[in-house]
Formats: sequence, structure tokens, C-alpha cells
Amino acid sequence: MKIFKDKHILQKEISKTKGISFVPTMGGLHKGHISLIKQSKKSKFKTLVSIFVNPKQFNKKSDYRSYPRSTKKDLKKLKNLKIDYLYIPTFKDIYGFKPKEKVFIDKFSKKLCGRFRRGHFEGVLNVVNRFLEIIKPRYIYLGKKDYQQLYLIKKHIEKRKIKSKIIECKTIRENNGVALSTRNLNLNDNQMKIASKIYYYLYNLKKRIKKNYNLFNPNRVKKDLRDLGACKIDYLENYNIENFKKINRQNKKFNIFIAYYIKNTRLIDNI
Ligand code: PAF
Repeated sequence: MKIFKDKHILQKEISKTKGISFVPTMGGLHKGHISLIKQSKKSKFKTLVSIFVNPKQFNKKSDYRSYPRSTKKDLKKLKNLKIDYLYIPTFKDIYGFKPKEKVFIDKFSKKLCGRFRRGHFEGVLNVVNRFLEIIKPRYIYLGKKDYQQLYLIKKHIEKRKIKSKIIECKTIRENNGVALSTRNLNLNDNQMKIASKIYYYLYNLKKRIKKNYNLFNPNRVKKDLRDLGACKIDYLENYNIENFKKINRQNKKFNIFIAYYIKNTRLIDNI
């Protein structure tokens, strides 16, 4: 595994390869990331992982500061996985140039997390646009757990006719159903149990309302979730996952999208 901190040195190395499969991360690597990396390793290109906690996508300084970091452990995991390249840029390496492409922000960025985390998706698209320009990967691997992020990156790539192809990867869950997330590191055992109960509640809810959508009563559901231990619910909404239209009839292909807090930890999922 070769480690790079400077994009020019990285680009020189990449130029010798047939192409790159790229897994962008903010570190705090868990089984979800590992699954993305394993899929990337199956491609015919070299695997490049980046670790960069992007300050521009945090709408609160405190959230940026408390975001879990575990570089030493991450390095060990990546070495064991035998990835080809690791890119750990500085702020200046990423933000010290003007990208050729302007970020395209689809209007869906205003919904769901966009309503509660102002500037979050602008920050994500800004950094991803820069990574794409530096690395020019053939493939970029993104998890469906962050479905809105994935959708918005897809729209940006389509609109700007960028040649990288997104490989959409399924959400990896703990045995207790909770979606893997770096933020789970901030949960204690009891809080993890709450997150698990909430997952099963929503899983069963989806089964029920798929049969009869009239059974969906958001206020009732939110009350139940608070009773289970959710402190604050930013949103609970159902969307068609292909076009992000809201659902109002039964038997459509939809997911339940949720963002909620357990104490100070904000968790998102789509089920
Ligand atoms: O999903 C993430 O970890 C981040 O939003 C990403 C895509 C690495 C951009 O900073």
C-alpha cells in the first residue's frame, strides 16, 4: 500500500496505471467501508482509498470536532486489505485549486438531510468534484446507506458528463440490524440497543404499509419511535428510490428515510 499526501505525486503514480477504482471515505473505517473496498478490489483497476474528514460538509463545528477519527486503526485495516493506494490529503491539497467543473446541485438537495444540515450536500459535492478531478477514477464506490448523497453525486456526474461510473453498494448492517456508520462509534451499548429496536420497528412498518399504505400514520410512528428512545426526529419520509418522488399510493417501490438522534448522535437510515 502506497500512501500519498500530495496530489501531484499521486497523479504521477496513477498515470502509470490502467485506471483507478476509488473508495472515498472520511476514515473511521467499519464493515461498510470494508465491503466497498472488497468490491473495488474485484475490479480490474487499482484500488485507491481516500481518508479526508471534509470540514466543508459539517454544518456545525462541534459535529466536525466530535466526528470519530481512528487513523492508526484505519491504516492497519487498509494494510490488511492490501489496497494499492491510500490518499490522505491536507486541506490545502484539496481546496488549494479551482476545479474545472462547477458543482451541479440537484433540487433534491433541499429535501431530507438538506433541510436540517444547511450546506451539507454543497460541501459533499464540492469535495467529491475535486476528488474526481484529481483522481479521474473509472469507478467510484458509494454506499446506499447515504442514499441522498449517492443520488446527488450521480446527478452531478451525469450533468457534468464526468466519465467515472458509480458503483452503488448495498447497506451493511450489524447483526442487530443497525446500519454501519462511523457515528455508531459514539453510541454506548444501551444506545445501540435503541438503534436496533428502531431499525426493527421501521423494517416491520415497511412490510405493513407495503400491503396497505393507508396504515402509514407519520405522527403515530414518530411517537412510537420516541417511546423507543429516539430523542429528536429530523424527518421520517417515504420516497420512491428511483426518482425520489413522494409516495402516496400503495405497492410502489419505496424506502422509509429517517434521520434521528439518540442523545447527541445523529443517525440516518433508509429501509
Ligand atoms: O460518505 C462519506 O464518507 C463522505 O460524504 C464522502 C463521500 C467521503 C465525501 O466526503
